[in-house]
Amino acid sequence: MNWFFLFRRGRLQAKKQLTRGAIRIMGAECSSLQKARAAYKPKLPKALRTDKVKIELGAPTEPATDKIEIKGLFPNTYGQPEVKIVESDGELSKSPLKVGVVLSGGQAPGGHNVIAGLFDALTAANPESRLFGFLKGPRGVIKCKYTELTADRIDGYRNTGGFDMIMSGRDRIEKPEDLAACVTTFETLGLDGLVIVGGDDSNTNAAMLAEYLRAKGEKTVVIGVPKTIDGDMKNEQIEASFGFDTASKVYSELIGNIARDSTSAVKYWHFIRLMGRSASHVTLECALQTHPSIALISEEIQAKGTTLAEIVESIVDVIVKRAEAGRNYGVLLVPEGLPEFISDIKVMIDEMGAILGKEEDYLHTLVDHNERVRYLNTQFSAQSAKVYGSLPTSIQEVLLKHDAFGNVPLSQVETERLLIDLVSDKMDYLKKHEGKDFVKFSPLSHFFGYEGRCAAPSNYDADYAYSLGCAAAQLVRAGVTGYTANVQNTTKPADEWTAGGTPVTMMLNMETRKGKRVPVIRKALVNLEGAAFKKFEAHREEWALNDAFMFPGPIQYFGPPEVCDCPTMTLALEKGG
Ligand code: FBP
Repeated sequence: MNWFFLFRRGRLQAKKQLTRGAIRIMGAECSSLQKARAAYKPKLPKALRTDKVKIELGAPTEPATDKIEIKGLFPNTYGQPEVKIVESDGELSKSPLKVGVVLSGGQAPGGHNVIAGLFDALTAANPESRLFGFLKGPRGVIKCKYTELTADRIDGYRNTGGFDMIMSGRDRIEKPEDLAACVTTFETLGLDGLVIVGGDDSNTNAAMLAEYLRAKGEKTVVIGVPKTIDGDMKNEQIEASFGFDTASKVYSELIGNIARDSTSAVKYWHFIRLMGRSASHVTLECALQTHPSIALISEEIQAKGTTLAEIVESIVDVIVKRAEAGRNYGVLLVPEGLPEFISDIKVMIDEMGAILGKEEDYLHTLVDHNERVRYLNTQFSAQSAKVYGSLPTSIQEVLLKHDAFGNVPLSQVETERLLIDLVSDKMDYLKKHEGKDFVKFSPLSHFFGYEGRCAAPSNYDADYAYSLGCAAAQLVRAGVTGYTANVQNTTKPADEWTAGGTPVTMMLNMETRKGKRVPVIRKALVNLEGAAFKKFEAHREEWALNDAFMFPGPIQYFGPPEVCDCPTMTLALEKGG
């Protein structure tokens, strides 16, 4: 089927819906914006505007490190070439395909557009192709819980935020019995391909499943799509993860609003923690967009080996300097992942991971928290026992939890409150002993995370995610497996975008999780030599002492391209903009 026909159908439907008045999605009445967004036509790279494509193979690839270990773990999929999707007179098979899709991990704006792109590209090549959505994440694949995704169902979700079309989950397809259960699911449905939409861990999982299926001689191919608001699944080939753009724009709007309140009320210090499990990309992007008084960047703190006490000192220093200039207010941004980057806390978290790897079940039989702490003290090194003991009980309890991938749920650690407490103590001391009575420190704490994860995707994310879905469809049609779909050049006009696939094995490295060495996609942390950090570094002192706040305002969906279509500042700077 021709794309023009599909788009025209989409537009006609949306027009009908607009003229009909209220449309309903899953029984709920829609807002005017939802109605207008239903008609939005995502931009696509040229090669994805047609079903007449072929794939071009590049040179064989290998990971940057741990080659022998990774090759041993992926004997059937190691070393595959990069692939490009290019227009041709139609070399890929047009036979009807059955494809499954699963959303894995945290929500990210654009997920529904990946599914829409996948569906449109599959059915454009052959209207008999069918798409199945596995429910509530990877467990849905293991348990064969799915729903068929038809045009009517998908149309209600185009350009919407959230993952509610099929929901998400954080399970991992790892145990032998889970892998075997997936094979049963694929055979039951006769699946030609599975598309796993997820972050670094889920794309790693896609590679493991691809390897397993190839070893068993199964026909189902597995393709990953890079998703996460954290922005840490990126490298030379994957220039961004979808969702990062929208989420950081939503947080930046809120930070700008708070900054305006702080310069109006002139009496509060706002300590704002920003989501992003590990890397500080979200915080850095928000800092570039809003020019806060202080932004902590975990990667810099780690590189300098800064201790918690030194972080507190540096915050107090800015608070005092601003107070000297009559500014007893300000905005501080703190990344969610900070605790893991403070050297002594990081060592303790790693030791905790190893303890949980061996003793998790036993620890959870201890009902009393003090009993657990006593037991941990027998396992920790002396220094880690001291660090753990110095944290508030609420944080100690969070550190006892790990998800299926061995990650600590840092979104539950209230680092902003911990910092407020430590800074307040220090201010009290300075007032008492160093005559800093003129400083008025009235802190307020905020956490921005869930506010942005399901926002309606920005044009960038709507276009990018839809393109990734279309690219994934072409990779499935091509029969390649163990790849992550990519779309590149996205800071340029869509005519210059390209699409293809990156072998997951080339992005892997070996890491210790829960005390075991496992292959995982290398997380992209903030590059302290990169253009985005350098820009922040060059301006932060000026932002600290003056009121240089910027107010980006809400995401705009309709209007001039420089307002509606701009990528994140991070991506623009990385690409030399
Ligand atoms: P993903 O890496 O799965 O995309 O998760 C993103 C994220 O939003 C993190 O920023 C955050 O730490 C985590 O999910 C919170 O997840 P949950 O709500 O499941 O605890």
